[in-house]
Amino acid sequence: MEQTFIMIKPDGVQRGLVGEIIKRFENKGFYLKGLKMVTVERSFAEKHYEDLAAKPFFPGLVDYIISGPVVAMVWEGKGVVLTGRKIIGATNPAESAPGTIRGDYAIVVGRNIIHGSDAVESARKEIALWFPEGISGWQSSAHSWIY
Ligand code: TYD
Repeated sequence: MEQTFIMIKPDGVQRGLVGEIIKRFENKGFYLKGLKMVTVERSFAEKHYEDLAAKPFFPGLVDYIISGPVVAMVWEGKGVVLTGRKIIGATNPAESAPGTIRGDYAIVVGRNIIHGSDAVESARKEIALWFPEGISGWQSSAHSWIY
């Protein structure tokens, strides 16, 4: 079953949006397979965002991600990578549709409260980076009611 990496960024944690964000993924029917609160080192944040290292916003992005604890999660379900991106909304909250997390709770791109993997392959890499200890293999018995 497909998995994605979702991270609630420091602003999402400090604004008290952890429960709301988890609720949206749970209500959809996705399964929470990994969850932890961590404050990451600069080198770790740089690794997570290594594809963006050449961008002018990269140093500010790294400062933001290491500024406080984040909530790192693994969510599982059919099409969860793409559907998760839809639940999150466009990168720039000014362009995120109302009803999406960023569309409802954020204003500027540099404080967009949540990260979600953009492809199955990047999800695999990000889950390995953030959860080297592995994640739970529990299976829901509600499964057949959702699909
Ligand atoms: P990106 O991977 O392009 O977007 P997404 O998070 O939607 O996958 O960019 C990573 C983060 O970098 C983004 O969530 C916010 C930040 N960012 C900026 O601060 N300024 C920008 O112009 C862009 C494109 C991104």
